[in-house]
Amino acid sequence: MKLSKIAVFTSGGDSPGMNAALRAVVRAARYYQIEVEGVYRGYEGMIDADFTPLDERSVARIVDKGGTIIKSARSEAFRTKEGRKQAYNNLQKHKIDAIIGIGGDGTFTGLHVFNKEFGIPVIGIPGTIDNDIFGSDYTIGFDTASNTAIQAIDRIRDTATSHNRLFLIEVMGRDAGFIALRCAIASGAKAVMLPETHTEPEALLAKIKLGEQKRKSSNIVIVSEGNKNGNAQELAKQLQLMDDSFDIKVTVLGHVQRGGPPSAYDRLLASRLGVGSIEALKAGKSDVMVGVLNEKMVFTPLEKAIKENHRINDEMMKLIEILSI
Ligand code: F6P
Repeated sequence: MKLSKIAVFTSGGDSPGMNAALRAVVRAARYYQIEVEGVYRGYEGMIDADFTPLDERSVARIVDKGGTIIKSARSEAFRTKEGRKQAYNNLQKHKIDAIIGIGGDGTFTGLHVFNKEFGIPVIGIPGTIDNDIFGSDYTIGFDTASNTAIQAIDRIRDTATSHNRLFLIEVMGRDAGFIALRCAIASGAKAVMLPETHTEPEALLAKIKLGEQKRKSSNIVIVSEGNKNGNAQELAKQLQLMDDSFDIKVTVLGHVQRGGPPSAYDRLLASRLGVGSIEALKAGKSDVMVGVLNEKMVFTPLEKAIKENHRINDEMMKLIEILSI
């Protein structure tokens, strides 16, 4: 495959470590004498021809920076055939031979459709705090986001204990409970409410009451934003209606989880996946996502990465059950 120039973009919700991945893509490309165009604002910028040439110096001093210097967006226009045609024409004008997209499910769907329609080689790099991508044990940003959340939860624990309060703490994850599960285990939470497990509020209340009988002084419950029985606010209302003896407080951690300098783990993962994406293109691979499973670099067809679910680990769910008695 001809590989003189590639384009790289970040898309969807930003995640800490996207800059480290961008740096790795650009530096690896330049190492192999490939030119790079950075596309601003994901697919939106591809449609608007918002491109900028990037070389090894353009990505200096960003390995430690949160967010994404080339910005991100969720694009409605790219969902239309006309939008994609416009984007393809712009890539052709800039003589782009292949594209690398850093993002989640939505980003990969765009890449896959684009590759099928126009035949341009594409590679996906998993960058999302949600960790909900099949084909990689971890996604770029998950480690940092969960550490940020855990630090905040530890602080809430201090005040919860001082006042014998029940705290419902909502963490991000519209469709996935990976941040919630990790935070629940690491913060010693009483319970976790995930989109994947459908725990009834009655069962949660019974659990909390049992803890009370065992002289538990405070309770932390981690609620995933996408919990099917309601977010933290809604759940608090339901619990209070069932039993008004509890002093319930709600904290929604929100977008604080998306920012901040990436952890060492995320920087390393991003560096590996960024270099891996260029080496994959050089080896003639396309329409795949580069991931790390059991510490080994693996390539999963984008279609599979989109369709299959990264499953919640039952053993981890059991940990909460055992450790919160
Ligand atoms: O996909 C990452 C994520 O942070 C989700 O956890 C969250 O539901 C969503 O993005 C929020 O998106 P936005 O910042 O566009 O509202």
